[in-house]
Amino acid sequence: MPEYLALVRPSVNRIYGRAAGSVISAEATTLGRSVGEDLGVMSLKYLAGPEWLSFSTSSELGPAAISRLAGSSSLLGVFRKTADDALIPVSVAREECVPDSIMSIQRYKGKTNETFTRLMVTLGLACLDDSPTTVPRILDPVAGRGTTLNVGAYIGCDVSGIEMDKSDFEQYRTFIVRWLKDNRFRFAEEQFQVPGRDRSLNRGFAVRYSPNKAAERSGHFRHIRFVNGDTADASAFFKSRGHDLVIADLPYGVQHRSAAGRSSTDLSPLSMLVAAMPSWLWCLKRTGAIVLAFNTLTLSRSDLIDFASDCGLVEHPLTVGLGFAHQVDASISRDLVILRHSSVHAADLSPAAEPD
Ligand SMILES: C[S@@+](CC[C@H](N)C(=O)[O-])C[C@H]1O[C@@H](n2cnc3c(N)ncnc32)[C@H](O)[C@@H]1O
Repeated sequence: MPEYLALVRPSVNRIYGRAAGSVISAEATTLGRSVGEDLGVMSLKYLAGPEWLSFSTSSELGPAAISRLAGSSSLLGVFRKTADDALIPVSVAREECVPDSIMSIQRYKGKTNETFTRLMVTLGLACLDDSPTTVPRILDPVAGRGTTLNVGAYIGCDVSGIEMDKSDFEQYRTFIVRWLKDNRFRFAEEQFQVPGRDRSLNRGFAVRYSPNKAAERSGHFRHIRFVNGDTADASAFFKSRGHDLVIADLPYGVQHRSAAGRSSTDLSPLSMLVAAMPSWLWCLKRTGAIVLAFNTLTLSRSDLIDFASDCGLVEHPLTVGLGFAHQVDASISRDLVILRHSSVHAADLSPAAEPD
């Protein structure tokens, strides 16, 4: 049986702590399953210093699985182990579309970890039943200062965000415009106002840029669209079925103490979901997926799955039974769930089934 070793990103243990082995294996298993490869039982081991994920397959990994693993948020590269214990690199084509500084430059309290955000994006893309025929479009309906948007842009997706906090919205706009300028992208920015469900006006901006010279010459653009408003109004901000993925690191429902010493509590994540899910489903293609990260101390996994079921959603089959839960700090124990419509059948998965 072919044996493989994949180099683990050094930062991953710090992020996931004791759950690192489980989260790394769960991601790799999902990526394998998404292209019909069973990566079998995995284990983490140290070899010549760094840590590796070790696994065996019944036959050699095909190009589709290698390409999926190349996009992993926690692995740096895959090697095939030979009979005499030599490691042969398995070539991988990375999917970077813009410099990785787009993800790392912003530092602020409340930022969702970039590697974890990349996990959500990678898993979401793997869970799209058919690779989208166009550039995948991701909506983060609780976008903060845009980590999901930046990770999505990094791997070449079109991205949209909604954020209620005016200052987060402003700071993201300032950041992305500055970053595009600093990195010498040609881009066009448009600012607009869009009515919410109660007709009050919400500010927004849209950016169109070419990821590289070849794309620019052939007129291929990427898009970022961000609205400062209530996520429950998403259906007023975006067209129906315009997104392949909804990816959200939900408010944790914990106390925050501001610099001025005032404390506030996030709205309960479940109340927010009840108010917002109809709008999110409006924005999502029927064959799309929803990736939700949540604090299990304020929202239990079973309550979330029950609520999803009431909305006609089920846990995505590729991730059933896998463990992504990990402790972030004393007040946040994070888990993630990936959902899709329960009524999607094989016949719905042809590209022609969705209006573009
Ligand atoms: C866990 S944070 C997301 C952080 C984000 N991923 C980042 O890295 O910046 C959740 C965000 O949801 C926002 N939020 C909470 N309720 C909202 C609502 N009803 N509409 C829009 N945004 C909301 C909060 O302001 C907060 O920025």
